[in-house]
Amino acid sequence: MISRRTFLLGALGCGVGPTAIGGYSRLIEPRWVDVNHIHIKINTLPKRFEGFTIVQLSDIHHCKYVPAEFIRKCVRQVNALSPDIIALTGDFIYESDTYLPALAEELSHLKANEGVFAVPGNHDNKELTLYALSKSGIRLLINELVPLYRKNDYILIAGVDDLWLGAADVDKTLRGVNGESTIMLSHNPDIVTGIKHGNVDFVMAGHTHGGQIYIPFVKPTVMFPQFDTPYIAGLFHVEKTTLYVNKGIGTSTYPMRFLARPEISVFTLTG
Ligand SMILES: [Fe+2]
Repeated sequence: MISRRTFLLGALGCGVGPTAIGGYSRLIEPRWVDVNHIHIKINTLPKRFEGFTIVQLSDIHHCKYVPAEFIRKCVRQVNALSPDIIALTGDFIYESDTYLPALAEELSHLKANEGVFAVPGNHDNKELTLYALSKSGIRLLINELVPLYRKNDYILIAGVDDLWLGAADVDKTLRGVNGESTIMLSHNPDIVTGIKHGNVDFVMAGHTHGGQIYIPFVKPTVMFPQFDTPYIAGLFHVEKTTLYVNKGIGTSTYPMRFLARPEISVFTLTG
């Protein structure tokens, strides 16, 4: 028979446990940014790009639950890393485009030696995002490729449209690529299945928020049907292409994170 004391302790545990997890998921983890350092090996990397650094931010989702002050703090963290370039892999706002000008103002403070590049996500209005980001000195790449030069050496930075809402065109983006070191920004990680392997060395993606609310042994699609991909978070090797899926900064659907901390990724390229 259960004693009164055991019953009361059990009842207290049942109440405190979920409340504590709920409070942590709502108030602590969404602001607890993880800075991940990753080395990416590219065999064809020109010597002048040895040690080249890229900082990636993704899925900022500026909205009332992801306030400007938090984004400002992340921008300061990125700048403190002194990256060569910054890559922003889509989903800039959540629910309303009215957040875009304020977000662009925050992102205008990003500093990188050789440029800030972006691609649109499935929450982004392309025209409005292009207008807002270009005013902040950020180059939105929509099925485009840009060379980055260091004297006579160069690498290629490619950016594709979103796979779902846009018209991602990998072939058009990579037209003319002929064995150069090529790095691609894509909001959706599934783009990796449409790449002719060998044409892209490294893909940076987001979209999945790392599952956002990760319940062990439960597939992320139970909470978020939109995260239906085998590439939820971290590093993958898909044939000859290296893929990294960033967990993002903001939240969508629920203003919570659990076991999927917001992330700033720092890549160092090596030959
Ligand atoms: Fe997102």
